[in-house]
Order: sequence, then C-alpha cells, then structure tokens
Amino acid sequence: MEEEPTDGVAHGHITSLSVMRTHRRLGIAERLMRMSQRAMAESHRAHYVSLHVRMSNTAALRLYRDTLGFQVETVESKYYADGEDAYAMRMDLTGMWMDWAEIERMDRLRAEKDGKDADEGEEVGDLGTEKEQEKMVKVKIGRGLGVGDLVEKNESQVQA
Ligand SMILES: CC(C)(COP(=O)(O)OP(=O)(O)OC[C@H]1O[C@@H](n2cnc3c(N)ncnc32)[C@H](O)[C@@H]1OP(=O)(O)O)[C@@H](O)C(=O)NCCC(=O)NCCS
Repeated sequence: MEEEPTDGVAHGHITSLSVMRTHRRLGIAERLMRMSQRAMAESHRAHYVSLHVRMSNTAALRLYRDTLGFQVETVESKYYADGEDAYAMRMDLTGMWMDWAEIERMDRLRAEKDGKDADEGEEVGDLGTEKEQEKMVKVKIGRGLGVGDLVEKNESQVQA
C-alpha cells in the first residue's frame, strides 16, 4: 500500500515483480498479483492498484493487460534511467471490497446458534500429539537463490 498517496486515495502499488527464469510460465506471477490485489482490496480497502511497465516488456504487458485486466492510464516519458518510456497502468479494486460489518454480523449470529446447538463430544484419536508432528527442515529461499539479481531487468527482448 502507498503510505502517503499523492491523490489522497488509498491504493496499492506494485514496485517490482520478478519470477526466476526456471519457474516462468507456470502462473506464479499471475497468482502473486491476484493474491496481492485481494489483500489490498479486502484488508486495506484499496481503490486501485497501480504500476509502471517498460513499453518494450511484452511478457509483463500481456500479464497485466490481457491476463489481469489492467488499463493504461498514461505514458510516462523517459521514466526509466536508460531513457525508455513507461506505461502507467492501473486496475480498479473496489469490486473486490468486502462488507466486513455484514460478515461480522453473520459470524455473531452463527456463533450464537452454534452456542445453543453445540455438542462437540469427547476428543478422539491422537492427532496433534508429539509423535504425529512433522519434522521441520530448513530450506534456502529468496536472495540465496539469486532472485534479487533478476529484479528490474528487462528480459523481454532477449529470447531469439
Ligand atoms: C513478467 C514475469 C513476472 C511473468 O512471470 P510468470 O510467472 O512467468 O507469468 P505467468 O506464468 O503468471 O503468466 C501469466 C500470463 O502472462 C503472460 N505472459 C507471461 N510471460 C509471457 C511471455 N514471455 N510472453 C508472452 N506472454 C507472457 C501470458 O498471458 C501468461 O498466461 P499463459 O501462460 O496462460 O499464456 C516474468 O516474465 C519475469 O519475471 N520477467 C522479468 C522481470 C519483469 O519484467 N518484471 C515485470 C516488471 S514490470
């Protein structure tokens, strides 16, 4: 979320998005985008989400415009340090807002009803006891695998 939105409207902004080359075209970026949009709308009541993308970045453009439904707001001339222009894009999120007051009202009603009808019985089985617990294993993630190196590179024109 933008902490101090210049237009005074609560909104999210995607600063950077990158998926490791070996894991592309698996739907990861789409999933990340949809999850973040949902969090912005449901938890923060964001009106919209915005981002900038290089005009030459066809992969990202396809993702934002065609898959997710972002719209081009304007072209920002020489937005990038190397002089390339950017599309400023945004997507409305107000349709994803939740009516939390209504949800809480329904939860209270359900809890009252459950309170009356409750009959949970005795605990059975040994689920959750120590011998059932999974062994925790440490795994290497994020920068350790080189994700940081991929951020902000325009790779749309590299492929033959
Ligand atoms: C752009 C990027 C984040 C996409 O990540 P991804 O996980 O491969 O994307 P997804 O698998 O979720 O793709 C979703 C859709 O986006 C479009 N898309 C993604 N990569 C594409 C490509 N190389 N060419 C054309 N369309 C592409 C497709 O419509 C795709 O749907 P489909 O696979 O059903 O056809 C990734 O290519 C990347 O990290 N690029 C380098 C960094 C970058 O440019 N970031 C964006 C900066 S604004």
